Amino acid sequence: MRKSLVAGNWKMNGSSASIEELVAGILAGAGSSPADVLVCPPHVYLAQVAAALSGSNVKLGAQDVSVEASGAFTGDVSASMLKEMGCSYVLVGHSERRAIHGESSALVAQKFVAAQNEGLISVLCVGETLEEREAGNTVAVVSEQFEAVLDLAGIDAMKKAVLAYEPVWAIGTGKTASAEQAQEVHAQLRAVAAARSVEVAGGMQILYGGSVKPSNAAELFAMADIDGGLIGGASLQAEDFLGICAAG
Ligand code: PGA
Repeated sequence: MRKSLVAGNWKMNGSSASIEELVAGILAGAGSSPADVLVCPPHVYLAQVAAALSGSNVKLGAQDVSVEASGAFTGDVSASMLKEMGCSYVLVGHSERRAIHGESSALVAQKFVAAQNEGLISVLCVGETLEEREAGNTVAVVSEQFEAVLDLAGIDAMKKAVLAYEPVWAIGTGKTASAEQAQEVHAQLRAVAAARSVEVAGGMQILYGGSVKPSNAAELFAMADIDGGLIGGASLQAEDFLGICAAG
């Protein structure tokens, strides 16, 4: 039985004060969550959040990582730096990084490996745009994004990584994939992994992301291949986030 994970992607939101309040709110209820709980603040607040989470069961992750270990890479943050700040997870390949920063599947795969080399658990995000879905290319697009990582890192790497299916058209739009639409893609992604190892595929957590709310989380998480969620907007309110965790 796979344990579920509910991850909050705070994106570029918050201030020191608002984050202090948000973490306190999450900590007040996270102890009773049936799902593992992960929060991913902006890099500059990692140390603050790590200190606040200390002694709790809430896990800390970052939103991005450099492929490089150190050196002249202005603005970038390495996997070892994230580790030192208390992260155990990192998001790689979020659609906002792919679209806004032009990150290719090859670069995302290198980021995944850089994280893995430091013992960080990657949450590898894949997802299709509305145009790609309407053209009937959903499976081809998400498979290409996933296989780029499998080709470079190998299937065994997924024993210590998480996959997140996030249809781009559902992110921040209020438009959620139906539980059936999400399940269909999750099953396809698990089949892509199973073609390389049935055992790894069976143990791999696949999160759904895209306008998850307390009101739709239970229906999504009840699907056979949905093992939790990656939550954007609704993770910025402790009550909503905990409501989603409760469905885990
Ligand atoms: P959303 O974002 O929950 O605000 O749709 C999800 C994500 O981008 O991870």
